[in-house]
Amino acid sequence: MFTSLSIHVTLITFHLSTLQHTNNLYKSLFKYHSMIKIQNVAKTFGTITALSNLNLEIRKGELFGLVGPNGAGKTTAIRIVCGILHPTQGRVLIDGHDVFENIKIKERIGYLPEEPNLYTRPTALELLQYFGSLYGNSTPQRIEELLKFVGLYHRKDSKVETFSKGMRQRLAFARALVHDPDILILDEPTMGLDPATAKRVRQFIKTFKGKKTIILCTHYMEEADELCDRVGFLDGGTIVKEGEPLQLKEELRKGSTYEVIINHNDPSLFEWVKDKVISQEGTRLICALAPEDISFLLHTYESVIFSIRTITPTLADVFERYTHGSQ
Ligand SMILES: Nc1ncnc2c1ncn2[C@@H]1O[C@H](COP(=O)(O)OP(=O)(O)OP(=O)(O)O)[C@@H](O)[C@H]1O
Ligand SMILES: [Mg+2]
Repeated sequence: MFTSLSIHVTLITFHLSTLQHTNNLYKSLFKYHSMIKIQNVAKTFGTITALSNLNLEIRKGELFGLVGPNGAGKTTAIRIVCGILHPTQGRVLIDGHDVFENIKIKERIGYLPEEPNLYTRPTALELLQYFGSLYGNSTPQRIEELLKFVGLYHRKDSKVETFSKGMRQRLAFARALVHDPDILILDEPTMGLDPATAKRVRQFIKTFKGKKTIILCTHYMEEADELCDRVGFLDGGTIVKEGEPLQLKEELRKGSTYEVIINHNDPSLFEWVKDKVISQEGTRLICALAPEDISFLLHTYESVIFSIRTITPTLADVFERYTHGSQ
């Protein structure tokens, strides 16, 4: 029992240190090239303040998650980044160029809006050909490849009006990629999709990881955790917290939290653990333990302990901790 518990705890430690190493490697690779800079951006609509003093820097090749409650200002922020909406104050630099002063820079952005209103009369192929014709660098071969990539090649000659929501979303994804942009801005790309289609869309996004600079707006914390290198929590029009998912979860954990399940009540164990218990449900104790506490526990109370495992907060816990609900 003692040996297997020790191995379990060691494996957890190893896993965390490996992740940390990957993060450090990532940081050193992408540290120096800032691709998107949002500087002191504010946006008001009449009396409504959608954004106030928003500052954000996204590195080249980074997949940045922008999350926050309904009405937090995510869509407003990314429409400004895309140069569709003028800020009331502040500016956005794309690869060093002001998005409103250098129109050409917009061609480097592929935008998947929250509600992609696709023309419904043309076929999928015609729609992509039309959007491709707006840019110089789209070829028939690229359009064919894109249709295959999003799994719609077999329906290329069907009118968009005959497509399901998931198919339209995948076509909208292809539309955002038609000019091979190096920046992708995705506003809730998996919203309302069935689990299999959502997974497929997440796979598309993964294929661009590290190759394109991506902003992903999502309400799904598992999705942000799975895909994003860094996440920014937007609330009330400003960033209230940002960081790497692992780092944010670790920070919330405040030291090491363990779930200890015991076989039977042992008064001396309870006496020892009482200052360390965060919560208790029968024989299941949630405790904040230092490494030396674990060694002591394993040596002294081995016969009483059924299992020990670390508990890591989820990104949803981080969301709850730093944001205050929808507007
Ligand atoms: N065109 C507009 N006119 C007036 N108010 C607007 C406009 N666009 C956005 N807003 C307001 O700005 C605030 C932020 O809206 P925004 O759509 O950016 O939020 P969001 O974070 O994308 O929300 P959701 O998660 O629901 O998509 C809201 O209070 C919204 O009502
Ligand atoms: Mg939105």
